[in-house]
Amino acid sequence: MNSCHAALFSGKQLCFLTLLFLSTLSLLTMYMFDHMRYCEENNKVTLFGQNFSKYLANVTTLQITTNLSNCLKNEDYESFKAIRSSKGMWTITPSGRFGNLMGQYATLFALARLNKKQAYIFPNMANSLSQVFKLTLPMLHQEAKTQIPWQNYHIADWMDEKYKNILGDYIKLTGYPSSWTFYHHIREEILREFSFHEYVTEKVNFYLTKITAQRQNVTFVGVHVRRGDYVHVMPKIWKGVLADRNYLEKAMAYFRNKYKEVIFIVTSNGLDWCHKNINTSNGDVFFLGDGNEAKPQTDFAILAHCNHTIMTIGTFGFWAAYLAGGDVIYLTNFTLPDSPFLKVFKYKAAFLPEWIGIAADLSPLLNQSLNV
Ligand SMILES: *[C@@H]1O[C@H](CO)[C@@H](O)[C@H](O)[C@H]1NC(C)=O
Ligand SMILES: *[C@@H]1O[C@H](CO)[C@@H](O)[C@H](O)[C@H]1NC(C)=O
Ligand SMILES: *[C@@H]1O[C@H](CO)[C@@H](O)[C@H](O)[C@H]1NC(C)=O
Ligand SMILES: *[C@@H]1O[C@H](CO)[C@@H](O)[C@H](O)[C@H]1NC(C)=O
Ligand SMILES: *[C@@H]1O[C@H](CO)[C@@H](O)[C@H](O)[C@H]1NC(C)=O
Ligand SMILES: *[C@@H]1O[C@H](CO)[C@@H](O)[C@H](O)[C@H]1NC(C)=O
Ligand SMILES: *[C@@H]1O[C@H](CO)[C@@H](O)[C@H](O)[C@H]1NC(C)=O
Ligand SMILES: *[C@@H]1O[C@H](CO)[C@@H](O)[C@H](O)[C@H]1NC(C)=O
Repeated sequence: MNSCHAALFSGKQLCFLTLLFLSTLSLLTMYMFDHMRYCEENNKVTLFGQNFSKYLANVTTLQITTNLSNCLKNEDYESFKAIRSSKGMWTITPSGRFGNLMGQYATLFALARLNKKQAYIFPNMANSLSQVFKLTLPMLHQEAKTQIPWQNYHIADWMDEKYKNILGDYIKLTGYPSSWTFYHHIREEILREFSFHEYVTEKVNFYLTKITAQRQNVTFVGVHVRRGDYVHVMPKIWKGVLADRNYLEKAMAYFRNKYKEVIFIVTSNGLDWCHKNINTSNGDVFFLGDGNEAKPQTDFAILAHCNHTIMTIGTFGFWAAYLAGGDVIYLTNFTLPDSPFLKVFKYKAAFLPEWIGIAADLSPLLNQSLNV
């Protein structure tokens, strides 16, 4: 029976109805008759009911078949089949903090899909990310994690053709992938992986409503100012600078000109600096939280629910911007041309083409090197 091509409903509707019917039926039947057989072969999904005649006068064995491949897009179905039949298990080593973990999760998700393998995540990655997100990748038990004969596979920070064909059944990816080039082609799915639990969204909306007060039709701009260890790492190791007050002024002016009733919500791991360097006399700037780096999930959830983003550097701000999905302003060209940072970081692979870059002022670095 090729129910998916019947005329009354479109193929998709019918497949949906068939699947709904099958699942309802199987639940009911399992409830009534203890068990139910499910079988998948030759592209068909078949549900066999128990022999009902023990219980009812005149009902014989029930058999419903639908062709699953008509219900899924062909490529989805092919990878579904391949992943199902593959014995491989893929994972990624969690390293770094919240934003790095998100990048590693998304990269694992996308590369395992391309290579038709089932991906799993380590307990500490699950522990950090699943606090706010409805992830779907299964978690490995600590024991399984140590017993599996993993083969390490180092990946660079951006996508390469060779990653479409990684050989090996027990691959453990390592590295600090931090580029949309790995996963932007399946953006919808990545955003679904990083959709927030309802309880998080409710808390965020409560906070946003509170700071909105009496204003109408407000536009929220999340501002993430990365400082912390980078105050030293950037100039000393990477020959670069952080976002300065001029950068933030310019970025905020962009949004004040473009939208009415803008509210800026500033998060940072250097809130003291922000208080000193962000002009609040317009009454449209709110500083959020205590900048506690050990518990970044709340800051992150609020930034990601804003309409637009001002980021500076770093994966935390990147992911807030990627999830918020509106206009994004970022700091660019923030290192000297001979910086070793440029060996592991490419501006083009780090920021989406439609985002707006404002070049950093490198004069503090140049002046410093003149003085040396
Ligand atoms: C179902 O069960 C009845 C009685 O228990 C038996 O007579 C009948 O042959 C069975 N039918 C099938 C299809 O197994
Ligand atoms: C059982 O089904 C058969 C064939 O469909 C029918 O001829 C018969 O009358 C039914 N018996 C009862 C008790 O309903
Ligand atoms: C299911 O549908 C696919 C694509 O339409 C077709 O190639 C395949 O032969 C069908 N399988 C069966 C068992 O009908
Ligand atoms: C709300 O604000 C947006 C962005 O500033 C603007 O495009 C829209 O027209 C406003 N709507 C109302 C009803 O004022
Ligand atoms: C802050 O902004 C206000 C209003 O735009 C301006 O008058 C004031 O000079 C600014 N303060 C500083 C310290 O830049
Ligand atoms: C802006 O963000 C708020 C909070 O998430 C949301 O309720 C609102 O619908 C967004 N506005 C637009 C125009 O997307
Ligand atoms: C950053 O530097 C590149 C290469 O020198 C240049 O093409 C680009 O215009 C600069 N970006 C900005 C925003 O100035
Ligand atoms: C760097 O030096 C130039 C020229 O001496 C000066 O104009 C500029 O203000 C200095 N920049 C900083 C951040 O000290």
